[in-house]
Amino acid sequence: MKNITLRTLNTIKKNGEKFACLTAYDASFAQVINDAAIEVILVGDSLGMVLQGHASTVPVSIDDMVYHTQCVAQSNSNSLLIADLPFMSYRTEELALTNATRLMQAGGQVVKLEKNNRIVETVAVLNDYGIPTCAHIGLAPQQVHKLGGYRVQGKGQQQADLMKQEALDLQDAGADLLLIELIPAPLAAEITALVDIPVIGIGAGPDTDGQILVLHDMLGITPHTPPKFVKNFMPEADSIPQAIANYGLAVRSGQFPAPEHCF
Ligand code: KIV
Repeated sequence: MKNITLRTLNTIKKNGEKFACLTAYDASFAQVINDAAIEVILVGDSLGMVLQGHASTVPVSIDDMVYHTQCVAQSNSNSLLIADLPFMSYRTEELALTNATRLMQAGGQVVKLEKNNRIVETVAVLNDYGIPTCAHIGLAPQQVHKLGGYRVQGKGQQQADLMKQEALDLQDAGADLLLIELIPAPLAAEITALVDIPVIGIGAGPDTDGQILVLHDMLGITPHTPPKFVKNFMPEADSIPQAIANYGLAVRSGQFPAPEHCF
């Protein structure tokens, strides 16, 4: 696989093709994911749940994210490397710039930040300084306590219209990618068609440009009961590398997600 960049993902979208993304938090898995030609690696703050054993991503610090981004960057050669800005690490312009700088210097190539009422302004500031962004909309797991659980977002016409406008505003502010989590599949399809930038989905149906899963979920080793949108790829594989490669093939061929994984 050649070096994947934002331009590669834009071309995949223009050609009407699909790309695969997975989370990783260490050098060994980053190597396996590279070998399986998965286009995007996310060093997600989900590490707070799957590595650290917390009940949410809220306790994750920027130091945690820098450390794991460095670990992944050590053996990542081809996948586009996205790193998460954790809870409250982008609550002012100054903090967003300082912490995005730390993630980029640790080896990140794009920073991801979750929606809040100021995300458009934050994306615009990062864009002004040439830092690529992935704006995470739909369910924002860092707000789980405000939301009262991990619930499907964008239900009803009013919420759906707001989310479509948010996607357009983020694109206008300079977001390079959108990641949409846990929304009805038809709404995700509409948003993907509405914007020119590549859209990655999780629990958002089959029509986004890319799909992402948490690594531990697709290997069937999550400490909690996995959500409905997860498929465990291990039972149909002989090894972890094969399960990861099969996931990539299933995403690119449109076999994953199947109707049973969608809302
Ligand atoms: O932190 C993470 O792993 C994520 C995915 C759920 C998309 O944000």
